Parts: sequence; C-alpha cells; structure tokens
Amino acid sequence: MSYNPEIPRNRYDNYGDREWTRLERDAHGELLYHVHSDILKRYIKPSDSVFEIGAGSGRYTKDIVKMCKELTVADISSHQVEFNKAKMKELGLYDRIEGFHILDVVNMSTIESEAFDCVVCVGGVINYLLDKEQDGIEEMLRVLKPGGTLILGSMSFIGSSLFYLDGIRYEKDLFGIEATKWMFDTGIQDEEHYPVESKHYVHMMRSSEMDTLLSRFPVKVIERSSAGVFSQAGSEALENARQDEEFWEHIVQKEIEFSKLPGMLDCGMNIIYVVEKCQ
Ligand SMILES: C[S@@+](CC[C@H](N)C(=O)[O-])C[C@H]1O[C@@H](n2cnc3c(N)ncnc32)[C@H](O)[C@@H]1O
Repeated sequence: MSYNPEIPRNRYDNYGDREWTRLERDAHGELLYHVHSDILKRYIKPSDSVFEIGAGSGRYTKDIVKMCKELTVADISSHQVEFNKAKMKELGLYDRIEGFHILDVVNMSTIESEAFDCVVCVGGVINYLLDKEQDGIEEMLRVLKPGGTLILGSMSFIGSSLFYLDGIRYEKDLFGIEATKWMFDTGIQDEEHYPVESKHYVHMMRSSEMDTLLSRFPVKVIERSSAGVFSQAGSEALENARQDEEFWEHIVQKEIEFSKLPGMLDCGMNIIYVVEKCQ
C-alpha cells in the first residue's frame, strides 16, 4: 500500500480532544511525555528557531514555545491546527508562535529551505508515510539549517507488539497467520495485508530501520532513545504505581534513565532519534 494522506488527515480531523489528553490521561502517556520533554529540554536552545511538524493538539507546542526564540507549528489535520491554536490562546501563548500551517510533511514547499535551527517531529508522523518515509525526512532536512537538529520520533514495532500481544493474537483469528507473519516481518499494518478496522495503516519501526532510513542522508546521529519502557509492566501495574506519589516520581526518573540504555531502544512504545544535519 502506498502513502495516502487521507488516512492520517481523516483520523486526526475526527479526534476531538483525545490528542490533548493523550499524554496525561494515563500513566503510559505520562511516561512518553516525560521522556520527550527531557529530550526537547536538552536540545532546544533559547536562541533557536524551531519548526514543529505533526504538532497535533499542542501538548509539546506549549512547552517548546517557552524553550526557544521562535516557533512555527504545522500539521496535516486542520482540526488539530485549530485545536492547537485554541489551546495556545487559552494558555496565553498564541502571540508567541510565529505561524500555524496546514501541511503534509512530504511536501512543505511553502516553507523556505534552511529556515530552522531545530525541527521536531514526534508522536509517530513518520509511521503514516509508508513508501514516502524518505520524502518526509528529505523535506524535514531541507527546511533545517546545516548544523541544525532534527528530533524524530517513531512508534516502536517491537515495543508495541510486546504491549499489544493479546490484540495481535485476536487479529490472527480475523486476518490469518500469514497476515500475522507479514506484520511481524515488516511492522506494517495496511489495507492489503493487515486491514485493521480502525484503518490505522502504519509502518511501526525497528531502530535498525530508522538507522537505515537516516543513513541515506547527510546526518550524524547524536542520540537514540526509547520512550515508554515501563509501559511493558502493563496498565494495571502502571496505574497502581501512579497512585503512589513518591514511587511514581522515582519510576519517572528511572524511565528517563532506562530509555537511554542501548538494550532498551526497541522495547518501549516509541523510538526517538536526535540527528544533526551535516554542515
Ligand atoms: C499522535 S499525533 C502526535 C502529536 C504530537 N506531535 C504529540 O506527540 O503529541 C500525530 C500527529 O501527526 C499529524 N500527522 C500525521 N501525518 C502527517 C503528515 N503527513 N504531515 C503532517 N502531520 C501529520 C497528525 O495529524 C497528528 O496531529
């Protein structure tokens, strides 16, 4: 199946406020939020001009805008862009954002080349691109200044299959074992091979695939991180942990620490790469 922009656009145009609450309504989301925030804080500088693509409802927008000099926000979904604007107005941050654009990452021709010190694309945008993954990276690197930083997040295939194993077993009864094997071999669920009812057609990635993809570009990988490692403890254990304030505070610290271990890279729910565009 080739990339169809209508899939993410329709999904996120009909998402209501679920994107805004995604990172706080449960312990899984909170872990992802803390790991991403830690990375954003370490790489975004006060003098930076930042571009956030696939910004969604603005959970990170509201933080990034306070870390940098200028922030431009974009998303393929007009609903998410409008939601993001409304939230930034509510938080008194709207006037600090340079611009809001409705854009597909694979074609951002309205954005000047080499305009930004940092591009942030987290939360799985890359996973919707299928045969256009390379085009998406190319565009993000085009708008980045030489020496600039790209923070790129992906859904992790291995981590997700550990977490959703029971669902995958159930789907085997719907689609057959050959479809299951295809999905395990490729990380792809698509219309042709693995037609999930939700139409959530994505390529969930292994870190080796991220490495291969990025090796085609003039970039240097600065950091590889996992996110959502403790998610593998299961929802109940995590929610119990979150009820115990001092315990949870410690788990969040350990999540940030463990997510940096090379052996953990594929085991969380997301994989985050920080790369520098060569001069
Ligand atoms: C899971 S949300 C993540 C939002 C935010 N970055 C976060 O991590 O909370 C994915 C977002 O990417 C956007 N998106 C998906 N495909 C895109 C594309 N091709 N170009 C730009 N945005 C895209 C969706 O509309 C959605 O808002």
